[in-house]
Amino acid sequence: MATNVSRRGFLRTVAVASGLFAGGVLIAACGGGAEPTPTPAASGTPVTLEIASKGDALEFDKTSFEVPAGSKVTLVMKNNASPGSGVYHNWVLVRPGTIDAVAADGIAAGEANDYLKPNDNRVIAHTKMAKEGETVSVTFDAPPPGTYDFLCSFPGHATLMRGKFVVK
Ligand code: CU
Repeated sequence: MATNVSRRGFLRTVAVASGLFAGGVLIAACGGGAEPTPTPAASGTPVTLEIASKGDALEFDKTSFEVPAGSKVTLVMKNNASPGSGVYHNWVLVRPGTIDAVAADGIAAGEANDYLKPNDNRVIAHTKMAKEGETVSVTFDAPPPGTYDFLCSFPGHATLMRGKFVVK
């Protein structure tokens, strides 16, 4: 997403510089094989976020995050539950207004799917399910500015294990 926005800006700059201002000409130029390659810098500033469960409690130690728009986010989550407790957690970022439905569909999807409906387009990013003592992570492009929800989709956890993810 961030890459597309940046590339559009880059192409606009090229178009202005070369005098190709007509929309039709610009679109034709974009479809060709001579399209300029966007620089890697366009993919955004790396941001690392950390979250953990509070021991055996069904609780995250953070309930909100804020990241700049265009960030390349790496979310690291540690499951601090006691060995043998059987308390597993994941971290799932979802589109606004979808958290309860994603949680319900996750329960239906079952353990074989890490309690997430496969290919769920309401899910922006997620870690795998972490066992007791395990640390997991996921790297993703920050979605467009807005307020998103995160949760743990293990059955029964989402009611307590949830928070807000703000992109500004
Ligand atoms: Cu959990």
